[in-house]
Amino acid sequence: MSFQEKTEKNVWLLAGVLAITLLVAGVVEIVPLYYLPDTMETLTEEEDNIRPYTALELEGRDIYIREGCYLCHSQMIRPFRDEKERYGHYSLAVESKYDHPFQWGSKRTGPDLARVGGKYSDEWQRQHLMDPRALVPESVMPRYPWLAENMIDASVTEDKMRALSVVGVPYTDADYAGAAGAVKGKTEMDAMVAYLQVLGTMVNFQEGKDYRQ
Ligand code: HEC
Repeated sequence: MSFQEKTEKNVWLLAGVLAITLLVAGVVEIVPLYYLPDTMETLTEEEDNIRPYTALELEGRDIYIREGCYLCHSQMIRPFRDEKERYGHYSLAVESKYDHPFQWGSKRTGPDLARVGGKYSDEWQRQHLMDPRALVPESVMPRYPWLAENMIDASVTEDKMRALSVVGVPYTDADYAGAAGAVKGKTEMDAMVAYLQVLGTMVNFQEGKDYRQ
């Protein structure tokens, strides 16, 4: 019996061979990213305003994940002309450095949201989440009216920040101390809007500069 025949007839052997193949392929693809200097773009001080999310933005981000917004919205503008003209500057890896897990997504039923921050007023965002078709009659986006009623649970915000600090998000003691106060009495709608309004706003892009080394 040839090796191929054996693997085709024995499911455990097949599983073992697959596991080894995926392991080797994964190592070859992923490990170099940790050592290549140009995986992350370096920004000048003037360009770099990247900071961890505030307590309220972070809660908004958790609701974004809970509601599955990423199933219809990507947050990743590719460096193609049509994308740049529609959404703005293409996304940089360094913009997601405090995003765990990142929300790049892979499905665009709705538009990309990587630079939606500041595109509309807070009021527009609220009304749109309450009833998208009130503002965009042809929209297929669901309504999220419960966001305006649910309150944020302020007792866990600090723990969420501490958990993120374990994977390298530089929250400070002042951030922890202020976390509960910053989200107390806020609705999920407040948090979601705060999150949407900060998306893609943390880099001062210089006209004409190519950030891909
Ligand atoms: C079933 C797919 C779907 C889901 C789920 C969905 N959206 Fe949308 N979204 C759309 C579509 C389609 C549009 C474009 C029409 C419109 O503006 O309503 C859109 C538009 C938007 C816009 C305006 C973008 C722009 O640049 O004009 C924002 C902001 C947005 N969605 C946020 C969210 C958030 C936050 C959630 C999760 C709470 C969410 N969406 C869930 C489909 C979806």
